[in-house]
This record gives sequence, C-alpha cells and structure tokens, in this order.
Amino acid sequence: MNPHEIRCQYFSQEDLLAAGCLDMNLAMDAAEESMRLHAEGDVLFPEKIVQIFKEETQERINCLPATFRSKEICGVKWVSVFPLNPVQHGLQNLSAVIILSEIVNGFPVAFMEGTLCSNIRVGAMGGLAAKHLARPDSETIGFIGSGEQAKMHLIAMKTALPKLKLCRVGAKTEAEEEQFVAEMSPIFPDMEVVGAGTSLQKATEDADVIVTATSAQAPLLKAEWMKPGCFYSHVGGWEDEYAVAKQCEKIVCDDWETVKHRTQTLSRMYKDGELTDDSIHGNLVDLVLGKIPGRESDEERTYFNAVGLAFVDVGIAHAMYTRAKEAGKGSDLVVQEKMIFEHEELKDWVRL
Ligand SMILES: NC(=O)c1ccc[n+]([C@@H]2O[C@H](COP(=O)([O-])OP(=O)(O)OC[C@H]3O[C@@H](n4cnc5c(N)ncnc54)[C@H](O)[C@@H]3O)[C@@H](O)[C@H]2O)c1
Repeated sequence: MNPHEIRCQYFSQEDLLAAGCLDMNLAMDAAEESMRLHAEGDVLFPEKIVQIFKEETQERINCLPATFRSKEICGVKWVSVFPLNPVQHGLQNLSAVIILSEIVNGFPVAFMEGTLCSNIRVGAMGGLAAKHLARPDSETIGFIGSGEQAKMHLIAMKTALPKLKLCRVGAKTEAEEEQFVAEMSPIFPDMEVVGAGTSLQKATEDADVIVTATSAQAPLLKAEWMKPGCFYSHVGGWEDEYAVAKQCEKIVCDDWETVKHRTQTLSRMYKDGELTDDSIHGNLVDLVLGKIPGRESDEERTYFNAVGLAFVDVGIAHAMYTRAKEAGKGSDLVVQEKMIFEHEELKDWVRL
C-alpha cells in the first residue's frame, strides 16, 4: 500500500440502520456527552453557513461544522431543507450527508448518509428533555404532525418514557395519519397507535406528553388541551398559541440565545414582548449537568423547544460511525492512491 493512500469508510443509511445505529440510547448518551464537552470548552463550533436559494420557500443548503478536540474528530453536516418537497413532490424535505475527519493528519475517516443522524438528533434532544421534564409514569402521547420528525420523536419518547402505551396522532390528512400508524405500530407491539381523524384536539387532549412537529406556521395547539402535568416538546416553527407557553411552569430550550432569534413560537413571543429571558428556566445542558432542577411536581406543565445544535449532530455521527465500523458495515472508499505527482501516468493525464 502506498503510504500516501487515503481511505475512508462510506456508510449508506442502510449500512447505519443494519449496524443498529437507530438506537436512541446511543444517541441520547452521545448528545449528553456532546453537551458536557461543549460546556467544558472542548468543542470548536463556528457559525453555520447558510445559502438560501428562494426567500419565499426558504429552500436552502446549510453547512454546519464542529470539532471535538478530545475525540480528535472534526465533522460537518451538509444539510438541505426544501420545505415544499413533501407537498409538491412527495419527497422528504430534509436530506443530509456528514463527513468526519481525524485531526491528527487531517484526513477524512467517514462519509455518511446524514438524514438519519440529523433526525435522530432532533428526537434524542426531545428524549433527553422528556427524561428531565416529563412524568416518568407518562402513558399517553399525542402528536400534531405525522411526518419524519414526528416518527423519530415517537421512538425517542418511548425510549425515554417506556410506560407509554397509547399514541394518538393528528395530521392534516387522514392518509398521513394512517401512514404514521402503519409505519410505527410494528415497531411498538406494546403500544396502541391510532389516528385522530385530523382532530388536533382529540390527538392531544388528556395526553401526558404532547409533540408538535408540523410544517405549519399557525397556533395549532391550544392551551386548554394541555392538561396539568403534561410535557410538551415543540419541534417545528410556530405551532402553538402563546397561552401554551404562558401556562407552563418550566420552559427549557436547547439554547435559548439561539432560539430567541429564530421564528418559533417562543421567538415570536420574545419579539412581541410576551416573554422575557426570565421566563426561560434554562437550557437542556443545565438539566443534564444538574445545574437546574427538572420536573418538581406531578402537576407542572413543562415546555421544551430545540432548534438544533450542530455539534450534537457531529457527536452522534461519531457514535454511529464507531458502531457501524465495529459491526463491519460500510464500504471502503479510496480517496487517493498516492500523491498527485507520484502518478506515473500523470504526463498522459495532465491537460496543458
Ligand atoms: N427543531 C429542530 O431541530 C428541527 C429539525 C428538523 C426539522 N424541524 C422542523 O420540524 C417540522 C416537521 O418536519 P418534518 O420533516 O417532520 O416535516 P414533514 O413534512 O415530514 O411533516 C409535516 C407534518 O406537518 C403536518 N401539518 C402541516 N400543516 C398542518 C396543519 N395545519 N395541521 C396539522 N398538521 C399539519 C403534516 O400533516 C405532516 O404530517 C418542520 O417545521 C421542520 O422545519 C425541526
């Protein structure tokens, strides 16, 4: 082997799935560790680069890098969001790839499908929040939205709250609800998964846990549907009326400073003067590190909103890569066999 050969591993989504990477415990552990390392100053986390192709639709591709010094790993998520894909083309709105490099010589070690990791990260952060903010005896969960994020969130919530036994889902159409039920029921033989016939009230009223994960920009979730003791995980943009957050005893974000400059309900409330910094209980990392209390009574209503911390994606991607490699999945990708001017054929290949 030429000493200048560079090889890395390629992992398709199917390689990762077959290696057991759709494992919320793996992801939640990696997310927790990533947040702890970030708090300790171990993580390089530059600003993301955003390229928006159409302002009206917000079609975009973002580039989100991060480095874990202690793990000697640098990664980047290259993620595209095309919000009209599901409605106009029947395609997913988010797709991603991830590259991981070591930082000893600076060479790539993995090129992997990244939608799985990205969606797992969203679920894992919600699952971690549920561990601290939901009643551990929660039995019913209600969804508004039945898309990719909702499905992953159900896996995360069931992992964090194993006593869940009834899931109701409300979406824009009954066909979407039926698809959710058909895809999720086989994964959870001990849970009943039912459609709410597009009644968002029926889906969420009396639930111990509520998740909204929609492409809508409207106050879909009403405060009166959220019973005392309920934990609410807000995944999408503007999805709940202001009274929802106002009646919650604890509001936690993945990173409030980031959330407040975005367009979710909490961000809108902040800009409208309906909520201040003091209304926020803290960030998820504060719960993880035990700096602030989680749920303190059975009656508390709790609210979690995450907009995404890309260093967590890189942390989870690294855990998935390690597992997939150990499982012998993926294929060898030869990046280069030798250095450019070592190729004997170069005189024939070069174009002058
Ligand atoms: N917080 C994060 O870190 C994060 C990460 C990725 C995506 N997201 C957001 O999560 C949301 C969901 O993403 P997805 O990939 O699951 O989308 P998706 O297109 O797969 O699903 C959207 C769902 O919203 C439902 N919906 C839309 N309008 C509705 C209405 N008026 N009433 C009821 N249901 C309605 C649809 O029926 C569908 O089930 C998006 O807003 C996306 O931007 C958040």
